[in-house]
Amino acid sequence: MHVAVALPIVVNAMTLLPTPDKLKLANLPTPIRPLDRLSEKYGGPRIWLKCDDQTGSVLSGNKIRKLEFCLADALEQGAQMIITCGGLQSNHCRATALAAAQLGLQSHLVLRGKKPPDNDADGNYLLDKLSGAAVSVYPPKIYMESLPGLIAELIEAYSSKGIKAYSIPTGASNAVGIWGYITAAEELLADFKRLSFSPDEIFCATGSGGTQAGLTLGMHLAGAKVPVTGFAVCDDNAYFDQKVRQDVLAWQQRYFPSGAYQDRQLAGIHTDLKVRTIDRYIGAGYAKGYAELYSSISEVASLEGVVLDPVYTGKAFHGLLSEIKLGNLSHCSDVLFLHTGGVFGLYPYRSEFI
Ligand SMILES: Cc1ncc(COP(=O)(O)O)c(C=O)c1O
Repeated sequence: MHVAVALPIVVNAMTLLPTPDKLKLANLPTPIRPLDRLSEKYGGPRIWLKCDDQTGSVLSGNKIRKLEFCLADALEQGAQMIITCGGLQSNHCRATALAAAQLGLQSHLVLRGKKPPDNDADGNYLLDKLSGAAVSVYPPKIYMESLPGLIAELIEAYSSKGIKAYSIPTGASNAVGIWGYITAAEELLADFKRLSFSPDEIFCATGSGGTQAGLTLGMHLAGAKVPVTGFAVCDDNAYFDQKVRQDVLAWQQRYFPSGAYQDRQLAGIHTDLKVRTIDRYIGAGYAKGYAELYSSISEVASLEGVVLDPVYTGKAFHGLLSEIKLGNLSHCSDVLFLHTGGVFGLYPYRSEFI
């Protein structure tokens, strides 16, 4: 079997911490550009867009930065099968299944939702099917109650057939995956230097918390003062506060178990972080849209040629525009929005845009 070769360990220039092996799956660095027509219309800070929707065409969005680390770890452990989970239209599951296919690995997706008829696969689910992934779909109640057991059973079943399985949690948000956005923070700081600006705040959508955790930690490790705020798409502020700190603690314990690296104190870093979340734009719940959200998505597409999705980036960007309108960002002259991809998740909402 032909598989990609992991890169050697390198010391990260910004954080001066050793970074584990990663694969090269994403097209990096991603572009960054100002959205001046939109900024002018809203009359607030200049809005910059970091285009992580352009990390690839189908291996796209934020997930692929995390998967570069998770899949390197999977290969190092001799995995032949990648198991992961998420909603029926999960961008993470689609990216994982296609990345696994690219690496010559098998994949099995455990999805939450209502299984569509075979001739009606849409959006990410259609791409999951094309990737050749095995797919198990469970009703939300069963999924929520039994996910760890379902995954453990799958690992066991593959193992009894002599297939070594590696499981990646929801959104690849764990100790390994958050390296994707710790290293992205370095890329952003290089962007700011090259373009001679420094945003007063950075915003992103937050769902499983790993992007927010990695960026918050990456900026903290680099000594950058710019705050990172996640716009929640599902749970509340307290949930993300706890989830981000939990991922950061797991990262410290896995990679720096002694609690320090050279003269850097890393123990307790999860308590030092400022975790900032805004949970006012979720609407009725995860993946549930609303009229103002759809109209922000249409406005941004027509004014700037930027396509957002109703589940993640649309809710977050709608939140950003609403905060500007409310005057809550009047202290900012520049803000940065991280576009985390998700375009395939737009298609199942087609009827909202007619
Ligand atoms: C397009 C998109 N943006 C943002 C997010 C949120 O990222 P995270 O899961 O790291 O919080 C996700 C996944 O959950 C996503 O698919």
